[in-house]
Amino acid sequence: MRHPTADRANVVQFDNVAVRYGYGPEILQDVSFSLPAGSFHFLTGSSGAGKSSLLRLMYLAQRQSRGRIVLFGRDIATSRRYELPALRRRVGVVFQDFRLLDHLSAMDNVALPLRVAGASENDIRKFVPDLLTWVGLADHLHAKPPTLSGGQKQRVAIARAVIGRPDLLLADEPTGNVDDHIAMRLMYLFEELNKLGTTVMVATHNENLVSRLPYPQLHLENGQMRRG
Ligand SMILES: Nc1ncnc2c1ncn2[C@@H]1O[C@H](COP(=O)(O)OP(=O)(O)OP(=O)(O)O)[C@@H](O)[C@H]1O
Ligand SMILES: [Mg+2]
Repeated sequence: MRHPTADRANVVQFDNVAVRYGYGPEILQDVSFSLPAGSFHFLTGSSGAGKSSLLRLMYLAQRQSRGRIVLFGRDIATSRRYELPALRRRVGVVFQDFRLLDHLSAMDNVALPLRVAGASENDIRKFVPDLLTWVGLADHLHAKPPTLSGGQKQRVAIARAVIGRPDLLLADEPTGNVDDHIAMRLMYLFEELNKLGTTVMVATHNENLVSRLPYPQLHLENGQMRRG
């Protein structure tokens, strides 16, 4: 699932982007930043600062109200509608609210992106249990999400987001439900993915995580972004 264009220049570029919901005020204003291919950034800011909203723009679940967003070299606003799903498939997302499919086992939830990409069942049986074991869910491969704890669901969501080695990984508060030990282990997974070439952005409140890892911080405050 690797694409040559992801290897050059910026994977994401925002120029003076603003977001508003309905007729409400702009909750983000004049946000400009870029994510160079292969970079790793934290996205910080207090609750309600707009972290999830910013990530939603990047995985095409939300339109900007102003400004320009370029994803994998394509201007989102001027791209054809039929071109967008292919861009979207290059993005792995860990949703703040997990969004697992409750009727599928942990294994099948994680296998989903591989199946969509046409992977063989052999490969799925080879990779998915390994990854779930690595995140500490060896005993829950066949469990359905409603029977899992918050932290367990979060780890299934993370495994699903990384299994296809996306070009861009967006993780929204991915360690919000686990203790510090597991949090560091999950961050290690993101770092390994990053070493393989994935551009990573992790939105988090976890000061401990941000201070222990050497990655730059983009900080949202009062609708604006600044480098931390
Ligand atoms: N669907 C929506 N409709 C209207 N307003 C929204 C919607 N989603 C978010 N908002 C508003 O946008 C602002 C930013 O919300 P957002 O969820 O992006 O913040 P956040 O930084 O992710 O917060 P948290 O750390 O609590 O997850 C908030 O004021 C919120 O009330
Ligand atoms: Mg949020």
